[in-house]
Amino acid sequence: MPLAIKHLLGTEGLSRKAIETILDTALSFKEISTRPIKKVPTLRGKTVINLFFEASTRTRTSFEIAGKRLSADVINITGSTSSVVKGENLIDTARNLEAMNPDILVVRHSASGAPWLLKEFVDCPIINAGDGAHEHPTQALLDLLTLRVHKKTLDGLSVAIVGDIAHSRVARSNIHAMKTLGMNVTVVGPRPMIPVGIEALGVNVEHDLDKGIRDVDVIMMLRVQFERQGAFLIPSVREYSNLYGLTQKRLARARPDVLVLHPGPVNRGIEIALDVMNGPRSVILEQVNHGVAVRMAVMYLLMGGGDEGIN
Ligand code: CP
Repeated sequence: MPLAIKHLLGTEGLSRKAIETILDTALSFKEISTRPIKKVPTLRGKTVINLFFEASTRTRTSFEIAGKRLSADVINITGSTSSVVKGENLIDTARNLEAMNPDILVVRHSASGAPWLLKEFVDCPIINAGDGAHEHPTQALLDLLTLRVHKKTLDGLSVAIVGDIAHSRVARSNIHAMKTLGMNVTVVGPRPMIPVGIEALGVNVEHDLDKGIRDVDVIMMLRVQFERQGAFLIPSVREYSNLYGLTQKRLARARPDVLVLHPGPVNRGIEIALDVMNGPRSVILEQVNHGVAVRMAVMYLLMGGGDEGIN
């Protein structure tokens, strides 16, 4: 088993070797999506169930495409169209799905820890597609793949992660993986959006956006997660945008070769200006493209795939 793990639940504790194996494999899989026939027989006969209890465009679709490009049978279930609406709980839902012998269960849930709970009740490999404000490991891996494509070496790269860190599973998964790979991470945002004690994860904290992005190789903007905030954490959206929105004017003071990432969905004009989002430093749509290759790689490796690769 090349990854030495049964499930992919988070990047916390994921070894450098495992991360590099996933990125190497994903790089080799990128080409499949450019072929006239975008399909290889690698996971023929395998069944993947996407179980999404939260909304998703990029993650759900790319898991489905990834599974299908590997020839797996992919079943999509959303919370709102499942028997959850009749009162069935998460564990019973998963156990009933497992009774149909899937090979991989991909789970997104609003409750932090939901995939860890499920692994106690089902036998098949689980991939966390985002649990509450906790982890989103395949997002971090696709972000790292995007950086690998542009910067070649990740060790020593400096990254500013900007915005609502407190509610961001993307930030948490990236911080764990980036620190494992020897990257320098600064989290930037207003005090209410920066968890107390986050320095313990090995990151720097900065509250001034201009200072935070001045000399970094990568700026990762985060969506303000209005849906996870009991009350908005700063006085107004306009003030947030003025202080923490990435504009061309601000970007002009950063390094000329800086890369701008955003996991999506974007609050247009709030955390990032449209011309930055669509500008030459932005690799946002490349991130989306890499989501397919990374999810193909994760499924392939969890199913026991190794260095022999695929054709
Ligand atoms: N980045 C991300 O997780 O996007 P979706 O919520 O659309 O899947």
